[in-house]
Amino acid sequence: MANEGQRQYFANAMRTKRWPTREPFTALAIAPLLEVAKLRPGVAVLDIGCGGGQATKAVASVVGSTGRVVGADISEAMLELAGSRLEPTDNNISFVLADAQTDAIPGAPFDAIVSQFGLMFFEDPVAAFTNLRAHLKAGGALTGAVWQGMEKNLSFMAHRLSARGFQREMPKQGPVPQGPFAFAHQDYVNGLLVAAGFSQPKWVLHTAVRPCALEDLVTVQMLLDAGIDQDRVEEAYAIAVDELGAVTGNDGVVQCPLEIQIFTCVAP
Ligand SMILES: C[S@@+](CC[C@H](N)C(=O)[O-])C[C@H]1O[C@@H](n2cnc3c(N)ncnc32)[C@H](O)[C@@H]1O
Repeated sequence: MANEGQRQYFANAMRTKRWPTREPFTALAIAPLLEVAKLRPGVAVLDIGCGGGQATKAVASVVGSTGRVVGADISEAMLELAGSRLEPTDNNISFVLADAQTDAIPGAPFDAIVSQFGLMFFEDPVAAFTNLRAHLKAGGALTGAVWQGMEKNLSFMAHRLSARGFQREMPKQGPVPQGPFAFAHQDYVNGLLVAAGFSQPKWVLHTAVRPCALEDLVTVQMLLDAGIDQDRVEEAYAIAVDELGAVTGNDGVVQCPLEIQIFTCVAP
């Protein structure tokens, strides 16, 4: 089965339980994503990698009762979280368990596809984007929020330290880079999208700042969960605290910068 590594990663109970503490960071992409997507009331939208459904709900409020939105995700645990947040008035929203790379998602054709940090995890991104394009009406747009480089995103402190050699070698998953920073390079993403039949994407950069506590960004347990060895975890933690010092005020609040980028491209 495709994308088995990512399916297990996002099904992991520890990760999904912790996901609501992560959403205040990802949700900062909702406003700029919607600004670029320019959705209108009455349209049908597919939200890929919808996770806990916060962006899906924001889309639903834009498209209104004459429109509809389908949130699709590969993780049952994430969809349970999304479903638990539905209110009786949310009758223009549905959630579907699907692998966006391989599956036909019910409700097609859509006027638009959006994704908030849900596109960087495909084993075969060209196959995935080709599949997504087939879910769009002619002229429909795919708009995705992805992260800029890891070096700019302090909120991924555990990833940053792992990448600096603080962990045993992790098994590679799939033939291409997968993970939060897989789409940091615009030229790489443009190539994938054009190969899948989309128009050349346009990009917008967006910086957000999330005030938060140090322990929202790094704890010893988070570093251990990220694969950092027990015997080096204190050293890694000290480096993380030092790096975050540059954006920590006298009040102890970390003003965490989030460097996001949003692309949009059209299906012919
Ligand atoms: C970083 S989370 C983002 C969740 C949510 N959009 C947000 O911003 O809070 C990525 C999501 O993509 C989903 N995902 C990963 N691979 C997928 C695939 N092949 N098909 C559908 N969803 C996938 C994961 O299960 C996860 O919920």
